Amino acid sequence: MAIVPLDSDGDAVAARSPVIRLSFACHSSVLILLNLFLDLYILLSFFSTMTILVTGAAGFIGYFLSRRLLAHGEQVYGIDSLNNYYDVNLKKDRLAQLEAFENFTFERMDLSDRTRIAELFSEHSFSCVVNLAAQAGVRYSLENPLAYADSNLLGFLNILEGCRHRQVGHLVFASSSSVYGQNQKVPFATDDRVDHPVSLYAATKKANELMAHSYSHLYDLPVTGLRFFTVYGPWGRPDMAYFKFVDAIAHNRPIDVYNHGQMKRDFTYIDDVVEGIVRVMKKPPHRLTTTAAKTGDTTAPYKIYNIGNHSPVTLMDFITTIEQAMGKVAQKNMMPMQPGDVPATYADVQALMDDVGFKPDTPLTVGIEKFVQWYAEYY
Ligand SMILES: NC(=O)c1ccc[n+]([C@@H]2O[C@H](COP(=O)([O-])OP(=O)(O)OC[C@H]3O[C@@H](n4cnc5c(N)ncnc54)[C@H](O)[C@@H]3O)[C@@H](O)[C@H]2O)c1
Repeated sequence: MAIVPLDSDGDAVAARSPVIRLSFACHSSVLILLNLFLDLYILLSFFSTMTILVTGAAGFIGYFLSRRLLAHGEQVYGIDSLNNYYDVNLKKDRLAQLEAFENFTFERMDLSDRTRIAELFSEHSFSCVVNLAAQAGVRYSLENPLAYADSNLLGFLNILEGCRHRQVGHLVFASSSSVYGQNQKVPFATDDRVDHPVSLYAATKKANELMAHSYSHLYDLPVTGLRFFTVYGPWGRPDMAYFKFVDAIAHNRPIDVYNHGQMKRDFTYIDDVVEGIVRVMKKPPHRLTTTAAKTGDTTAPYKIYNIGNHSPVTLMDFITTIEQAMGKVAQKNMMPMQPGDVPATYADVQALMDDVGFKPDTPLTVGIEKFVQWYAEYY
């Protein structure tokens, strides 16, 4: 973990005396060297056999991330409550594939179980924690808000506490594009204001970012939050529009087209999301000196990135892509906008590119074809 002791008034001290300036310069080079050694240590420990905790391992993104890490020989400890928000058999089928790897351990566990989560962290030493478990879904947060408080607020706090007490090397957690609410300025950049969530789901994700920042600042915990933009692909979530559309079209049922199709989404293919997570995992943020931080930036070892396709598609074009992949035209129910929904999402991924050299780029036609093919084989 890169810990840099701070001089909150570094500039002024350096400017006062040449002797102090020299000692400040030496101090800085020692810090740079120290940071280099710590980076090397983090990189080595990442590639050594230390265990990575993946929460929500039976979920869509958690399954794919775990599979990728396991295939690369990492030890993965997966936890999931296997709740029934959507088909539990789908979660169990994902899990069955992970359990075929001998370097995978799974335990059914609820993030909101404070005692069990504390025990988990005291029993194991995790090099990295990837928190993907959460109550997902914008619309369901209007029906069952308390599920969001339990998993996304209390559950997330339990994870932060575990990371704090065991000094985990890097906590990576799932935030969401929904934090941008109805922002008009596009593409959405991580330094845009995100103070007006339009669903409780979005509010809990924004709260996660704030909670994580406070732990990062207070306990020097390296933390990275990832704002995912509408992730889709095989083994995906049955509550999401693309899954519902394919299912309805396959069974000759009409599809509900909200906001009369006048919506735009930055659809992001699962493999791109996993690539982004893995790259970010290997790059824990450092604490910055006050001089290195840009005005208004935090000095805490904390980062937020967008992971999106940077290529928004209108809902009608999206439906046409599905129709072409299925060779069938959908019957469409044109509907008004749903409460909690946002008209458009569009990710600015420059920061991700700059820091980890990657941006999602799977074309929608390719990703949708893969999903339709999986759906036909699975059901
Ligand atoms: N898929 C997307 O488009 C998308 C977009 C933005 C953000 N996200 C976020 O990414 C993360 C992963 O999303 P996903 O699409 O894989 O969702 P998912 O629902 O498939 O996976 C989440 C998993 O977490 C588990 N879980 C829920 N509450 C839990 C709790 N209290 N304790 C333990 N396990 C619990 C669920 O059983 C599920 O298997 C979530 O945090 C979600 O909010 C997803």
